[in-house]
Amino acid sequence: MERARWTSRTIFLFAAIGSAVGLGNVWRFPYLAGRYGGGAFLVPYLIMLVILGVPLLILEFAIGQKMQLGATGSFGRIKHKLSSIGFGAILCGFGVCSYYAVVMAWCLLYLIFSFSLKWGVDTEGFFLNQILHLSPQSLDMGQVVTPILFSLVVVWMAVYFSIWKGIKSVSKVVTVTMPLPIILLVVLAIRGVTLPGSLEGIVHYLKPNFSALLDLEVWHAAASQIFFTLSIAFGIMIAYASYKHERSDIAKSAIITSIVNSAISIVAGFVVFATLGYMAKQEGVQVSNYISQISGPSLTFIVFPKILSLIPFASAFSVLFFVMLFTLAIDSAFSLVEAVCTVVSDKYPHLRRQDVSMYVCVTGFVAGMIFTTYAGLYYLDVADHYITHYGLLFVGLLEAIAIGWLYGVEELRLYINSVSEIRIGRWWNVLIKYIIPVILMVLLAYTFIKDINTPYGGYPQKILWIYGWGILVVIGLISYLLAHFSAPKR
Ligand code: PHE
Repeated sequence: MERARWTSRTIFLFAAIGSAVGLGNVWRFPYLAGRYGGGAFLVPYLIMLVILGVPLLILEFAIGQKMQLGATGSFGRIKHKLSSIGFGAILCGFGVCSYYAVVMAWCLLYLIFSFSLKWGVDTEGFFLNQILHLSPQSLDMGQVVTPILFSLVVVWMAVYFSIWKGIKSVSKVVTVTMPLPIILLVVLAIRGVTLPGSLEGIVHYLKPNFSALLDLEVWHAAASQIFFTLSIAFGIMIAYASYKHERSDIAKSAIITSIVNSAISIVAGFVVFATLGYMAKQEGVQVSNYISQISGPSLTFIVFPKILSLIPFASAFSVLFFVMLFTLAIDSAFSLVEAVCTVVSDKYPHLRRQDVSMYVCVTGFVAGMIFTTYAGLYYLDVADHYITHYGLLFVGLLEAIAIGWLYGVEELRLYINSVSEIRIGRWWNVLIKYIIPVILMVLLAYTFIKDINTPYGGYPQKILWIYGWGILVVIGLISYLLAHFSAPKR
């Protein structure tokens, strides 16, 4: 059967950017910037973008496009056993997707609440108690929270219908889900910077604290942010590139994707800090008071609802904000699912694409149910930590080693240059072969030692061993076994 194709190069770029731009740009990046040295965080962030992000994105685009297969097939072509790298990638992606969809389910509920500003004044109590039913400090799951579960069903239906016919559906959906949230973000940025007090927030965002650069933790945060934000090491970019023609451009597409994605993160930072500045002024406190509270869910579901209620036309801006978040996230979510579907369809081409998409979505929904329980937020936090801090960097490390040492970087570079509008020099070989593996090994070792000494997030060490490391061991084992027992592709 003829492989499906993107309808145009622009649509491919829309899909790649759509995958890259997601919740990571709006909550993760600004929070990291606020926490790790303000404007100075941009230094490690941009260095990691250039040293890790762009070269690995080029690698993923190149291998997918050259092999014309998803993540497992592409690495399997080099050496059958290497297909385990692809399995590792899609399993990590699948893990992320199962909780990413739950965050989207919260977004959807908040979108409905926006019409009446239902969260009231105590946004924290509303989110943690009334919505999540979070059991304080107890990892006891209690039961499933029904509204979240229903919302999750709707999310998965939206994901399913975005990808049910594979790349054919994705091509249509991304024409809306890529540009729309970006336009809304710009609207919110304009609103944000014109609010009284915004300047103070922005100063806090951009004022560099260069001493932060001496801390390895900051570099690790920058590196894992780059992987997360560019959707690297999930098999997504490999799958997406495999639907391009073999002679299409690689290097320029990777550079455009990276630049647009980072630009959006930086704009999102302005939105967040400008509005925090406004809130600080309203409440008569310093912007720095909020920094410890703005990570992850708190920013989106606790701080933002509060700020949104304060500004004129509160309901309209709240709707706009949650529509933006939802549409921002959906193309990242379905790209993860698409990466898995591509691998399954490569292996079993006789299966109908609709069926493959259905199996993957249903499995993703079931896997995500744990995050809809009373202790869901804790499990989500732990899963996120272990997958993004170890899983991704480890898969990235294996990808660089596989290409650098087993496939041959020079061969891939010559292929990239034979099709690309921008030529890449031999520096790329050096990065893939030596520099990236060394950086990733140092960062992995560093986090490992840190986590052994201080249990992540103050959770009981036992839970972290069983659940956190457990996830990684299961992913590793399944990847190894699947590669070991699956038949090589002809
Ligand atoms: N890149 C997306 C973001 O920044 C998230 C994502 C992670 C997408 C993993 C796919 C895979 O939010």
